[in-house]
Amino acid sequence: MNKFRKIIVTGASGFVSRNLRKYLSERNIDLISISRNNFKQFKNESKIVSKNYDEKNLLKKIKDSDALIHLVGIGKQSVDIDYNVVNTEFTNHIVNLCKKAKIKKIVYLSGLGVSAKTSTGYFISKYNSEKIIINSGINYTIFRPSYIVGKDDLLTKHLHKQINNGLIKIPGSGSYMIQPIHINDVVKIIFKSITEVKFKNKIIDLVGSDRISFEKYVKLFSKGTNTIIKKINLEYSYRDAITNPKSDFGIDDLNILIGNFKGNHNKLKKFTGMKFESVMRLLESGRLF
Ligand SMILES: NC(=O)c1ccc[n+]([C@@H]2O[C@H](COP(=O)([O-])OP(=O)(O)OC[C@H]3O[C@@H](n4cnc5c(N)ncnc54)[C@H](OP(=O)(O)O)[C@@H]3O)[C@@H](O)[C@H]2O)c1
Repeated sequence: MNKFRKIIVTGASGFVSRNLRKYLSERNIDLISISRNNFKQFKNESKIVSKNYDEKNLLKKIKDSDALIHLVGIGKQSVDIDYNVVNTEFTNHIVNLCKKAKIKKIVYLSGLGVSAKTSTGYFISKYNSEKIIINSGINYTIFRPSYIVGKDDLLTKHLHKQINNGLIKIPGSGSYMIQPIHINDVVKIIFKSITEVKFKNKIIDLVGSDRISFEKYVKLFSKGTNTIIKKINLEYSYRDAITNPKSDFGIDDLNILIGNFKGNHNKLKKFTGMKFESVMRLLESGRLF
């Protein structure tokens, strides 16, 4: 018998959620997954469809769960929906639900680069949600991930789309560095964070072993496809992001990309005791997809 009674996952149809729910289901964990829209259930999974995660609908069903993994978030805002509403206020709502439902642990995905010195709207909303979680008094683990990559993450889908069109556009020089981490490692760490005491009340950078320039990443990604790679003037890229709601990169996508954020992979490796996939090696061998 599994020692967990119940684990709750929010934002069930998102990229990390889908992969995490599959991983937990395969380990026979009792799951309750919540989404705004209908979705296909895994084994051992109960489904809650709720537009606004209202207390009346949720409280009884999630009561006394072992952990809630909060994976709701947006990386692009509009006049209809902004960072403060989804990333911060919604986290506040979830934390209040956790308190009322006496949930023992909350796991949250913030972002690499979030800190008290942060100045962009996206990072500020993530920083404020971290604070809400920390001040809740509930046992927490906050992760600050770099790019989480796999078969169907946003960056991978974006690059595949450009390859299909025969042209990948790199904003600016492409010499800024990223530190991608594979989704399989991320779901393992999330599970560890709810099973191992050492993760209690920790903030942890989730970064892969390779720190690689975006240009090199794109070249490896498109190897053998005959795709043209073109550097786009950064001023043009930002102007497109500011004026065109359908631009390839949103303003904060660019801020995060150009930000050159760095984490300590060796520290993560030592702390988790895990062996990590090298995203670069996966790309080189074509096994990322
Ligand atoms: N992927 C990465 O590389 C990465 C890196 C750093 C941090 N993160 C963070 O990790 C978390 C999960 O990322 P992800 O890549 O899985 O993102 P994702 O695919 O965009 O999923 C996020 C989910 O949030 C839910 N959501 C969005 N807007 C909402 C709203 N207004 N109200 C309620 N729910 C809403 C949606 O779930 P439903 O449609 O099921 O309702 C959506 O699928 C996010 O907080 C993200 O900021 C991700």
